Amino acid sequence: MALLSKDHPMVAAQTLHSRNQTDTHDKRGRFLRDLRISVIDQCNFRCTYCMPAEVFGPDYAFLRRDELLTFDEISRLVDHFAGLGARKVRLTGGEPLLRKNLANLISRIRRIERIEDIALTTNGVLLPRLAQDLKEAGLDRVTASLDALSDGVFKKMNGRGIAVATVLRGIDAAENAGLPVKINMVVQKGVNEQEILPMARYFREKGHSLRFIEFMDVGNYNHWRMDEVLPAQKIIKLLSQEFELIPLVPAYPGEVARRYRYADCEAEIGLIASVTQPFCQGCTRARLSADGHLYTCLFASQGWDLKGYMREGIADDALSEKIRQIWIGREDRYSEKRKALLQKHLHSHKVEMSFIGG
Ligand code: GTP
Ligand code: 5AD
Ligand code: SF4
Ligand code: SF4
Repeated sequence: MALLSKDHPMVAAQTLHSRNQTDTHDKRGRFLRDLRISVIDQCNFRCTYCMPAEVFGPDYAFLRRDELLTFDEISRLVDHFAGLGARKVRLTGGEPLLRKNLANLISRIRRIERIEDIALTTNGVLLPRLAQDLKEAGLDRVTASLDALSDGVFKKMNGRGIAVATVLRGIDAAENAGLPVKINMVVQKGVNEQEILPMARYFREKGHSLRFIEFMDVGNYNHWRMDEVLPAQKIIKLLSQEFELIPLVPAYPGEVARRYRYADCEAEIGLIASVTQPFCQGCTRARLSADGHLYTCLFASQGWDLKGYMREGIADDALSEKIRQIWIGREDRYSEKRKALLQKHLHSHKVEMSFIGG
């Protein structure tokens, strides 16, 4: 068998997830590898499944500027997380491109040696203006969210009447700046399932990896119902009627997306089946909210106030030790327990996705 070059994405991903000397694992044996940082809780969209306009209206109390982590604080934290095993950073929001001078933050994270991968999740609107600077600052890649190719459907879902072409222009701008792009599509039964095939056709031609995400019960306001989840298996069945798809082996244990390649081209698709096929077993993700709390699960109700410790003057060793202790004590596996929790009405108030990042 031919050996893969060290730059091959599969080798890169395996390196990212291989074991280190200084590794810290949680109560379920999961290492810390990914740090997802929400840099702002505001967004210029009001996606119905994330920030429904009737809740996130003009009176909604977003964080004040002084409540947000500063770039100094974020860089300091990334350094500590890297020391504990994190190799990948994903910047999220809200909409991260609304945070002023984001390129500056990226260039600072780029200088942290152990961070091998810096990605950004965005709705794409501001990419035509910013993509080149982000790339030059050291961003490695972009994930853009787009839920439909039909304007009617998309405008309703994004809650702000934004046209599809606006996002497509952003995606093109990222590509032209030399940034690899993945696309996230949240699939909601009865809302945009008819968009699955058109989206697949379009991004197959473009050569971008398109990922179908099961509608999730994140936050407290998106009126989630199990019967609005289109199971990933059904999505694959639908796609298989038109395309021949070859399953790919996971690039690392617990990979979020189950990936497939089209038989007749290099393009890929992925299915993110957090509801019907949970992937908590391999969850190596820590999340920092925009106001500097550490959350160990997307569905957590409570985080740890790292910003508070920093603003009280905590020393570096003590800060690292705090984070290590939090990770060691982690036992989250919400998606695996979802069904039981919902049946028993045991779910509590959860953090909002726009606050903690996707
Ligand atoms: P890559 O770094 O490109 O491999 O990204 P990824 O596959 O981790 O995907 P991305 O970070 O773009 O996440 C895509 C979507 O998957 C998110 O927007 C969430 O909806 C969902 N997701 C990501 N991580 C988790 C997780 O830990 N738990 C759950 N339940 N969903 C997640
Ligand atoms: N279900 C699934 N994915 C969601 N996202 C936001 N809300 C939800 C939800 N309820 C994802 C979107 C976006 C990312 C920021 O989070 O795909 O790409
Ligand atoms: Fe904004 Fe993304 Fe949430 Fe949509 S999914 S409201 S674009 S943060
Ligand atoms: Fe990780 Fe929580 Fe998602 Fe499970 S539900 S994969 S523990 S973030």
